[in-house]
Amino acid sequence: MRYSAFNPFPWYKKMAKESPVIYDADYLHYHGPKGTWHVFRYDDVQRVMSDYQTFSNQYQPKIEENPSSSSLALSDPPRHKQLRMLVSDVFTPKTIANMRPWIEKITNELIDKVENNGEMDITRDIATPIPIQVIAKLLGVSPNDQEKFKKWSIMILQAPSEIEGGEETFLRSQQEMAQYFISLFEQRKVEPKDDLISHLVQAEVEGEKLSTNDLLGFCVLLLVAGNETTTNLISSSILTFIENPEIQEYLAKHPEDIPKAIEEVLRYRSPLQYINRIAAKDVKLRGQSIKKGDLINVWLGSANRDESIFPNPDQFDIHRTNLKHTAFGHGIHFCLGAPLARLEAHVALQVIFERLHQFQLKEATEPLMNPTALTYSIKELPVTFKKR
Ligand code: HEM
Repeated sequence: MRYSAFNPFPWYKKMAKESPVIYDADYLHYHGPKGTWHVFRYDDVQRVMSDYQTFSNQYQPKIEENPSSSSLALSDPPRHKQLRMLVSDVFTPKTIANMRPWIEKITNELIDKVENNGEMDITRDIATPIPIQVIAKLLGVSPNDQEKFKKWSIMILQAPSEIEGGEETFLRSQQEMAQYFISLFEQRKVEPKDDLISHLVQAEVEGEKLSTNDLLGFCVLLLVAGNETTTNLISSSILTFIENPEIQEYLAKHPEDIPKAIEEVLRYRSPLQYINRIAAKDVKLRGQSIKKGDLINVWLGSANRDESIFPNPDQFDIHRTNLKHTAFGHGIHFCLGAPLARLEAHVALQVIFERLHQFQLKEATEPLMNPTALTYSIKELPVTFKKR
């Protein structure tokens, strides 16, 4: 059975049934190494994410020139706890909720630009700019630098070989980005503002300020972790509602159910399809012997279609009562930005349905996927709609 980025779910089903934990010697990781264990079933996925002493997040070698290799998401306790505490107060539900009016405003501005056209590309016109503007605001970066943000966050998620211009372009872009942030750190040290970068340059772990590399690691992590994932969630929501047109009118009449619909999209088309771990010691998982140092692909997208947990898993159903999906991970690395991602998607969908309706795929077009197994990522989603 061939893997399909648009519909990887039959492959997951087959693997979860026949080979729920399996070693794949030929698998090429996006960060370089070859060979991985694949873990497909919900219970195993949860177990790996819960046991951070056995399944470590330090799966990428720390590379001085690559700031994203030194970050919260790639560290284990005790370092992980220290780093996480530094940013936790910026991501509390209350702080995030205060961003709602501003997110409403930027969403309305984006819709103003397209509403008279009767058509748009959801990914390009709505789902991409919202998260980028939100992260730019959080970090304290000028909204004028949006295009650079997008370029970097896409590039960081790709293998250097997939990029036009190859490794050289990749490294140049990384350096550009590092320089950009380093000059911002210097500015904020001298003149702090009410933003995350000012907060981080002042912060101390055990009496020491964060190194430039740690600061860069944070910024890059937020770009990587917060932009494309949230874009994917918004685009996948619209695609799924196009496939289930009755839900569009239902949600317009029952906006109170938009959060439930978002949770079901997170389950049904998880924006991040897998995450990685490395075995910190020898361990047995479902009878298989995983050796210390082996890499692991933990398939969230597959766990979220596990029929022993979600009856009729391939059915999109916003009225599911069991919503213990794994789309934001589990345990100590549970997504720090989950309240923000939920808020962005909620506001975007609410404003969209207040102003527009009858979304359909534009005639003679199809959604175009980014060719990666890591994310469920709709590169182009051309749609038509009517104004209310
Ligand atoms: C729908 C959108 C999103 C999804 C599906 C998502 C998913 C995830 C997942 C699965 C993890 C766990 C990774 C692991 O265990 O190794 C994670 C961690 C993380 N996410 Fe998100 N994320 C989203 C949006 C965001 C946003 C908007 C931000 C910030 C602005 C963010 C920041 C982070 C950070 C900092 C971590 C690392 C937490 C840690 O290691 O303690 N995410 N995310």
